[in-house]
Amino acid sequence: MSKAWTEHATLALGLMLLLSAQPGAADPAEPRRELDLPLERYEPHVRGDLRLSGTYPLWRDRSRLDWRLAGSPEEHWKLNWKFMDPPYNSAVHGGHFALDRGEALYRQLDRSGRFAACLGAPRGRLKGLRTRYPRYRADLGRVVGLEEAIEHCAAAQGQVLENGSYDNSAVSLYIASLSQGLPIAIDVSRGPMRAAFERGRRLFHTRAGRLNFACSSCHVRNVGQMLRGSHITTPYGDVAHYPVYRTQYMLQSLHLRLIECNLDAGVQPLRPGSRAYTDLEVFLTALSNGYPVSVPAERH
Ligand code: HEC
Repeated sequence: MSKAWTEHATLALGLMLLLSAQPGAADPAEPRRELDLPLERYEPHVRGDLRLSGTYPLWRDRSRLDWRLAGSPEEHWKLNWKFMDPPYNSAVHGGHFALDRGEALYRQLDRSGRFAACLGAPRGRLKGLRTRYPRYRADLGRVVGLEEAIEHCAAAQGQVLENGSYDNSAVSLYIASLSQGLPIAIDVSRGPMRAAFERGRRLFHTRAGRLNFACSSCHVRNVGQMLRGSHITTPYGDVAHYPVYRTQYMLQSLHLRLIECNLDAGVQPLRPGSRAYTDLEVFLTALSNGYPVSVPAERH
């Protein structure tokens, strides 16, 4: 074996070791994933840090927003917080019917008061509950979103209310409506919520699928671009209007929206309630801290 070859091999091995020792190198148990960098240094506060979104102050003062990013001057607000796609009829749309269905189901499920208790509503009061989900549930040993809790608490009474189903989302929508106007307020500063937030943040920047896109490839890098008839928007404030009535799909929970985004980008979608979606939900909800719950919302 020639000396030059051995030197090359040693160099290559050394380089490999060096690369694998890089800080932030992937966990060897996980498949290697390429990140869409840089990861933003989001540090959300429970009461919301609205400066974080950058576009929030502009949304408050629409005259300062560059409407070219939104497509048209009437649609400025879409860049940041989009709970109604024009033209809309805020008095009656499919979201209102879903709300009625959700209320009827809720009343039937909570006849004994056990359903509300299971969801973690103090003294059966649902006000504000939406603003504090996702949360860590010690009984389940993991962080869960509201829809997953609804599925779990219905099952505890022998009823099937599958996460992602119309009825599950309708109950979620009804519960959200009782927090109307209250700011989203989840605490991701420590413990399992912090860990889920960090995983979600990383996932948001992880490239995957046929296009090798990350969520951030669209929702950070291509804000304002047109895709399949809609303008890509920032991820701030979104959670405050979910589940949303979609004119094409009836009622869409946040996890169903993630399935749609995955399909758009040629990525294998996951089940509603899967850990990765819940982690993304924690991340996105933290970015909505401070935004008022606004349901029922309608989007095309
Ligand atoms: C190929 C581009 C693309 C990718 C990649 C993508 N999205 Fe989207 N996403 C869109 C478009 C287009 C919309 C609809 C317009 C809008 O509201 O931004 C949308 C909408 C959304 C919404 C709903 C916004 C609202 O308030 O109604 C959420 C939440 C969302 N995306 C999250 C994600 C997450 C999380 C990922 C990564 C798993 C992701 N998206 C990946 C293009 C994309």
